[in-house]
Amino acid sequence: MDVQALEAEAQRTIAAATTLEELEAARVRFLGRKSELTQALRGVRDRESGMALNALRERLDAAFGARQQELERAVLEAALAEDVDVTLPGERFPRGHLHPITLIRRIVEDAFVGLGYLVRDDREVESAEYNFDKLAFPPWHAARSPRDTFFLDRDRLLRTETSPSQIFELEEREPPIYMVSIGRVYRRDAITPTRYPIFHQFEGLAVDRGITLADLKGTLRHVMRALYGDERQVRFRTHYFPFTEPSIEPDVSCGICGGRGCATCKFTGWIEMGGAGMVDPQVFENVGVDPEEWSGFAFGCGLERSAQLRYDIEHIRPLWEGDLRVVRQF
Ligand code: DAH
Repeated sequence: MDVQALEAEAQRTIAAATTLEELEAARVRFLGRKSELTQALRGVRDRESGMALNALRERLDAAFGARQQELERAVLEAALAEDVDVTLPGERFPRGHLHPITLIRRIVEDAFVGLGYLVRDDREVESAEYNFDKLAFPPWHAARSPRDTFFLDRDRLLRTETSPSQIFELEEREPPIYMVSIGRVYRRDAITPTRYPIFHQFEGLAVDRGITLADLKGTLRHVMRALYGDERQVRFRTHYFPFTEPSIEPDVSCGICGGRGCATCKFTGWIEMGGAGMVDPQVFENVGVDPEEWSGFAFGCGLERSAQLRYDIEHIRPLWEGDLRVVRQF
């Protein structure tokens, strides 16, 4: 083996390496297990050539080490030369936000929790018994028709209202009761500015001694104020529901047209919030509560409609379409 020729070639290669990767490749080539030098060292028989080869290896080792330091320093200097201002603000992460329905849900929950109500959430697949029978729906009521309601089979359906929560609460707990139930409901409705086949309702029930219609109106006004502020007007119309007597419907003045009339309020200046009334004695009897001792009120309102009223959204549809250009505004 020509020691001098090998050393000259190795030194040239080391000096020519401009990156740490190139240098490592050269190290493998000249000092690796399969390199000419290592093989030669393995086959050494006499002391003299052994010393010469070992000395060569040490010189090459030193040369590799020195070049490695140079290259590492160059990498560091290049990094430092890039002007880095560590005091600059970092990149902003886009921040998510809550859907308007969730915002409304929280306002409603806060308002009722503030009144001492407990919040519950019930199943969306319901039996006809709990969706209709125990709420005193007569057998001929239109909501029992498969044209109005999504039935899964003869007895099971997607609940059309959150009112079954009233029955659950009355069956599970002794009065006094103050509860609000919030969740999704389903109806076979055509889509209009204020109707959609899926929507959310909040349902309230208060049962105590001596509860009157005035308590119901006061409670509804309190919640309407939490939702819409003092500006909007609230009015109550008489109505009919199978499970309340008397029954009323609260309306809120339309903020989109300022009460003058538009497509959203069907040109009446008012938007219907839902239904309410004094719990019908028949409902109390259906769950074994004595209507002579206890009285109560109940109400059910749509969250989408509340969102439309609070944020003046003309059509319910964008609330269910998830178009970010729409929901990012809230
Ligand atoms: N469940 C009725 C509906 O969806 C709304 C309703 C009316 C709820 C009167 C009530 C009530 O609790 O007392 O149209």
